[in-house]
Amino acid sequence: MYASPLAGETSRTVSNAARLRGEPRLPGDKSISHRALILAALADGESAITGAGDGRDVQATAGVVAALGATVERVRDDGLNVDYRVSSPGADGLHEPEVVLDCRNSGTSLRLLSGVLAGLPFFSILDGDASLRSRPVARIIEPLRSMGAELYARRSDTLPPLVVIGRPGLRAIDFTTRVPSAQIKSAILLAGLRAEGRTTVREAVATRDHTERMLRSRGIEVRREPATNSGGGPVAWTLEGGARLRPVDERVPADPSAAAFWLVAGSIHEDAELTLRAVGVNPTRRAAIDLLVRMGARIEETPLGGEGPAAETGGEPLADLTVRSSELRSIDLGPDEVAAAIDEIPVLCLAATQARGRTTIRGAGELRNKESDRIAGIAAGLSALGARVAVDGDDITIDGPTRLFGAATETLDDHRLAMTFAVAGLIASGSTSIDRADSAAVSYPSFFTELERLRA
Ligand code: S3P
Repeated sequence: MYASPLAGETSRTVSNAARLRGEPRLPGDKSISHRALILAALADGESAITGAGDGRDVQATAGVVAALGATVERVRDDGLNVDYRVSSPGADGLHEPEVVLDCRNSGTSLRLLSGVLAGLPFFSILDGDASLRSRPVARIIEPLRSMGAELYARRSDTLPPLVVIGRPGLRAIDFTTRVPSAQIKSAILLAGLRAEGRTTVREAVATRDHTERMLRSRGIEVRREPATNSGGGPVAWTLEGGARLRPVDERVPADPSAAAFWLVAGSIHEDAELTLRAVGVNPTRRAAIDLLVRMGARIEETPLGGEGPAAETGGEPLADLTVRSSELRSIDLGPDEVAAAIDEIPVLCLAATQARGRTTIRGAGELRNKESDRIAGIAAGLSALGARVAVDGDDITIDGPTRLFGAATETLDDHRLAMTFAVAGLIASGSTSIDRADSAAVSYPSFFTELERLRA
C-alpha cells in the first residue's frame, strides 16, 4: 500500500501532568452541527448556526451542502467553532452536484445525506477517505431502496463510494433498525420528509434524538411512542411526508462526547478540578456522564435553564459540569449501555483502567464499524501503556487499577483513540507518544492546545 510521506509527521508527545485545572473550551456538538447544516439546506430561506464545531467532519457536511446548491458562509470562526449563515432555495431548489460529494472521515455525513439525496431527483456519489470507504452502508441502502430510491455501492452494495439516484415521491415505510443507530434512523426520517404518507422508524433502544428535536423546531411534527424516555426499551418515531421545513437561528450546545475526555481526565488524575460550560445533556447523549458517576466520579452538574443559552438551542438541555479527582470502581456494561455511550466507550475504557475491580463491556461489536476498529485499537493502545485489557469476541474486560507507563500508542488515524491516549498520557509516567494525533481535528481542532493549557 502507498505510504503517505506525511504519515507520522503529526505525532505528538504528552507528558505526565502534576495538576489539572481550568475550563477547557469545547467544540459545538458534532451531531447537532451536521444536522443544523443539512436542515438549513432543506429549509427555504436563511438560517444562522452559532457555535458549530469546526472539526473536519462538520466541514465535510458544509462542503456537501454547498455542492448541492445552498450558499454556506462562514461568518466567524475562532479555530474551534464557527458561525454559519446558510441561504437555501429549499429542498426543491437543490441541484445535482457537479462533483463527487466528499464526506472525508465522516460517517454521519454519508449516512444522513444519503437519506436526503434519496428523495431528490438526481444522481450523486458520496465518497470519503480510506476509513469511510471501509464502513458499512448496506444498513442504509436497504431501507432507502425499499422507499423507492436507487442506491449502489462497492463490494456488492456494502462499502462506499455510494451512488444515490433519488426519486421524488418516495414510499413511506415502517422500519425496525437491526442495530441501534441514530444515523440509520435519521437517514430514514430525512427521506421520510419527501415520502408520501407516514414514515416510522422503530429501534430497540432510543438512540440520540437530535434529528427529531431539530425537525420539530423547524415545524415538522415528529411523534414518539412511548412519549417520554421511561428507562429504555423500544421506541418508535413517526413523521408525515410532504411538510416544509422553516429556517431557524440556532445555537449549538457544547459537545458531550468531547466533554467526556475531560470528565475522564479529571476523575482519573489525582490532583484535578476541571469545569466544562454549557454542555449538551440530552437524555439520549448523557450516558457517559451517568456511567462515570456510577463508577464513583465526582461530577457536579448545574443545569442551565430558563432564559439562558438553553432557550436558544432548539430544545436541547444544557449544564455546566465540574469534575474533581475521584476514586473509581469498576462497572458492567451491557449492549444497550454500549449503544447509549457508543462514542465514549474508548475513553471509558481508559477510566476503567483506573477503577478498582473488573470492568466488563459486553456486546460492543458496533465499535468495530467506527472510524477504526475501536475494540482492537483501544486494547492495543491501553495495553501498550500497561493496562490489563482482554478482548473476547465483542466483549472487553479491563482489570484495574493499574499504573500506566508512557509508551508509543497508535491511533489508527481515529480521533477518539488519539484523544483517549492523550488523556492517558496525562496520568502515565514519563511521556506518551500518539501517532497521527492530528486526527483529533476531525471533531476537536483545539484539543491539544486545551490539554496543554490545563497543566496549571
Ligand atoms: C451519530 C451517531 C452514532 C455516532 C456518531 C454520530 C450521529 O453513530 O457513533 O459519532 O450523529 O447520528 P451510529 O448511529 O451509527 O451508531
